Amino acid sequence: MSKVKGFSRLSKQQKINWLLAQYFDANNDAKEVLKQYWNEDESLQELHDGFIENTLSNFYFPYAVSPNYLIDGKTYTLPMVIEESSVVAASSKAAKFWAEKGGFTTKILGTTKLGHIHFTFEGNISDLFDFFNKHKAKILEKLYPLQENMQKRGGGILDINLIDKTNLLDNYFQIEMKFDTKDSMGANFINTILEETASVFIDLLPEKLKKDTHIIMSILSNFTPECLVRSEVSCKIDDLKTPDMSGKEYAQKFVQAISIAEIEPYRAVTHNKGIMNGIDAVVLATGNDFRAVEAGVHAYASKNGKYTSLSHAKIEGDRFIYWIEVPLAIGTVGGLTGLHPLVKFSLQLLQNPSAEKLMRIMASAGLAQNFAAVNALITVGIQQGHMKMHLNNMLKLLDANKEEIEKANQFFKDKKVNFSELKNILNRK
Ligand code: MEV
Repeated sequence: MSKVKGFSRLSKQQKINWLLAQYFDANNDAKEVLKQYWNEDESLQELHDGFIENTLSNFYFPYAVSPNYLIDGKTYTLPMVIEESSVVAASSKAAKFWAEKGGFTTKILGTTKLGHIHFTFEGNISDLFDFFNKHKAKILEKLYPLQENMQKRGGGILDINLIDKTNLLDNYFQIEMKFDTKDSMGANFINTILEETASVFIDLLPEKLKKDTHIIMSILSNFTPECLVRSEVSCKIDDLKTPDMSGKEYAQKFVQAISIAEIEPYRAVTHNKGIMNGIDAVVLATGNDFRAVEAGVHAYASKNGKYTSLSHAKIEGDRFIYWIEVPLAIGTVGGLTGLHPLVKFSLQLLQNPSAEKLMRIMASAGLAQNFAAVNALITVGIQQGHMKMHLNNMLKLLDANKEEIEKANQFFKDKKVNFSELKNILNRK
């Protein structure tokens, strides 16, 4: 394999030709595989090509909807982008179950986002603090043009503080800034302000302090414990009864399952992964940054030094109460929201929500998904529903015809799906 120079400057076709020559046999269908996903609408294809560099094709994920989410008295149909077979079905089932019991009640616990200028200072610490406190207002004043628009929308810089971190790392200080970015996720706004603040700060420093100050970096934090939303459902314990369990038995087993996730990180990670199945699907469908959300959520789950469950449950009298608290630094304007046609569609489907409303919706999707998973785990087990949905994928993999599909569905009707058994009944090696 040879190295390539100036790859990004090649045309799409040249890039593909280079790859085919380097990595594929002459008779491989790689070229067609890439081509079959090109959009025939050239301007739409160009739009997608423009999102990132070196695009060769489009990578499809299924776009689905999950109806019957009753959230704060209003019914929503949620857009979901996800490849895992059972997620949407589970979401819809859980949403319907809770809609019949009053739905989700949510609360925004905060919308503050953070960013830091990380720097070292080797001079006299109290001189640095004196300077900062004296010039704080001046620094903010100089930032005014950059935050004028955001302020008009009701957001902007909320606070700016100097923090001594020298107990953690020699000479390490931070300027910590807090922001409200209203309906935008705000990454560009925050990073622009931070970089400008760093240069304003350096410019204002007197020579004596400047020579001892070195900016390391200026960047937002994806740990957003103050950009937090809570979603809750509750019902009478009796409403939880199943053919095999009384409502009380079910509620107790459910609370125990949650308690295990609260104290056992091995379980908590899987438990929270299930929550993220629901949240990420809506995050993706609405064009939000799922890596940022994932990073922030898992950091929040371990904020007290031990990784724990994001959801909680309790029994109070004759009621079962179940909730989630999750940080969601997301947006409904900016980024992909105005560009990607399917993202626009998702936001319209959700009645063009504010960022706060979308936080409420996403948290509820996470709670619903968690409910579906824990419900399956404490009753029939996860594999029944999961593998039933996965059966379709396995049948496709085996290129099953109509009769074989029917045969397999019939065979596994009351049985756990299993790939080797499926191959046996369809006479595949
Ligand atoms: C699978 O994607 C998610 C679950 O493992 C979540 C859970 O165990 O709670 C089913």
